[in-house]
Amino acid sequence: MEFSIKQGRPEKLRVGCIIVGVFENGKLSKAAQALDKAVAHRLSDIVAHGDMSGKTASTLLLQNIPGIAAERVLLVGLGKQGEQSSKATIEILSAAFKALNATSASDAAAYLTDEEVGQDAVWVVKQAVLIAAATGYRSDSLKSKPAKPAPLKSLMLATLTKPAASLKNALSQAVATAHGTELAKDLGNLPGNLCTPTYLASQAIALGKKHKSIKTTVLEEKDMHKLGMGSLLSVSRGSEQPAKLITMEYYGADKKQKPVVLVGKGITFDSGGISLKPGAEMDEMKYDMCGAASVLGTMQAIAEMGLKLNVVGVIPSSENLPSGRASKPGDIVTSMSGQTIEILNTDAEGRLVLCDALTYAAKFKPDTVIDIATLTGACVIALGHVASGLLSNQDDLAQELLAAGEQVYDRAWQLPLFEEYQSQLDSNFADMQNIGGRAGGTITAACFLSRFTRDYRWAHLDIAGTAWRSGKEKGATGRPVPLLMQYLVNRAGGK
Ligand code: BES
Ligand code: MN
Ligand code: ZN
Repeated sequence: MEFSIKQGRPEKLRVGCIIVGVFENGKLSKAAQALDKAVAHRLSDIVAHGDMSGKTASTLLLQNIPGIAAERVLLVGLGKQGEQSSKATIEILSAAFKALNATSASDAAAYLTDEEVGQDAVWVVKQAVLIAAATGYRSDSLKSKPAKPAPLKSLMLATLTKPAASLKNALSQAVATAHGTELAKDLGNLPGNLCTPTYLASQAIALGKKHKSIKTTVLEEKDMHKLGMGSLLSVSRGSEQPAKLITMEYYGADKKQKPVVLVGKGITFDSGGISLKPGAEMDEMKYDMCGAASVLGTMQAIAEMGLKLNVVGVIPSSENLPSGRASKPGDIVTSMSGQTIEILNTDAEGRLVLCDALTYAAKFKPDTVIDIATLTGACVIALGHVASGLLSNQDDLAQELLAAGEQVYDRAWQLPLFEEYQSQLDSNFADMQNIGGRAGGTITAACFLSRFTRDYRWAHLDIAGTAWRSGKEKGATGRPVPLLMQYLVNRAGGK
């Protein structure tokens, strides 16, 4: 879909649909007032007759109104003026774009970026783009008869006065973010038989071909063996698919500037290994590469934007399957860092691939390293599907990530990394064991990782609850691409 932001008079725009807001007390938004004037107050009559309550996220579609150039007018309820929460604004935008997508309009103009929506205009522009793109998203390319593509091809975010440069910047950031989010969703939704470590590597190579600014390299198992990545390699032992360590380097600033390194867990299917998971909903473990997908999506987005920052993406990718060669509970392996690990549960494999990738990340002399992983079921229990878990060895870094999440409504919540939790990883036979018991499962997983990140600023995002939805709306969400993008844009000075 094409997006633009332009000034225009609502009655004059020759588009398939024009979207304007109505408040709960029946008051029209400024754009709706302008339209109303052009049509001899038919809009205010409709509202006065009670056909449009103005309740948050209610909609009413009108057609062929004389005096208006657009074919349709979609009225959207804005709720009580000045009282809209972020959540309400999201609901308003979602309802508007859902109703718009149900029409056959191929282009539309939405007057929702004015202060009237209740939030900062920059915030609204970003949400409008992300939500409009998500509303048209389909994942049916593997059906023998995919549905027809959504008719809407172009969406204009219209303003009554000249749009500020900050809004145009927000738009291009949001469009790149939407494309990156879409890539992350597509990869997440692909089944494990198609999306293998080799496939993820081919996607990263393709990204490097598409964007000259990205250099992709892929390490094979023999290379990892030479580097001493005994922990990562212990996870792929049970699989016929070889593990890959994928690196994407993007230098958008002076080469001397230390990069931000993003490390994404890329387990393309997690059966649990010998510590086999129960059968119910095991299919969802195809999403265990959503951290990797978010790194690929973010790398694509920064390249598309031409972000002035150095960023490196690292993806340790493997399957986790049982077999006669698979790692067994009790096995002890040596990580690239030299630290030894007793594998008490082969289902705690994410940390085993991440720890070697985190040691490897030091090679890029990073300013900051952020890992993104569907790491623990415990995080779903703690934070549900609303916030990603955030743990960091630097509080200012945690604050920056939390703030970026707020800015794009892709929120995270911080959990502590207190020293007291570390002893849960004590092992009688090795430097550490790979599980810390049921208590504080998300924290002890992060404690494990913290033992490999002592030399740099590091944060960990546990996206087990936020990277996909179960049930009827099953599918990848593309999170936390928006959070990561906003963080990187902030780091680059907002441009
Ligand atoms: N990929 C899972 C985590 C997960 C579970 C994500 C459910 C989303 C939903 C991870 O590899 C795993 O299996 N973790 C174990 C760790 C445990 C054995 C310490 C878990 O959370 O049960
Ligand atoms: Mn697992
Ligand atoms: Zn896993």
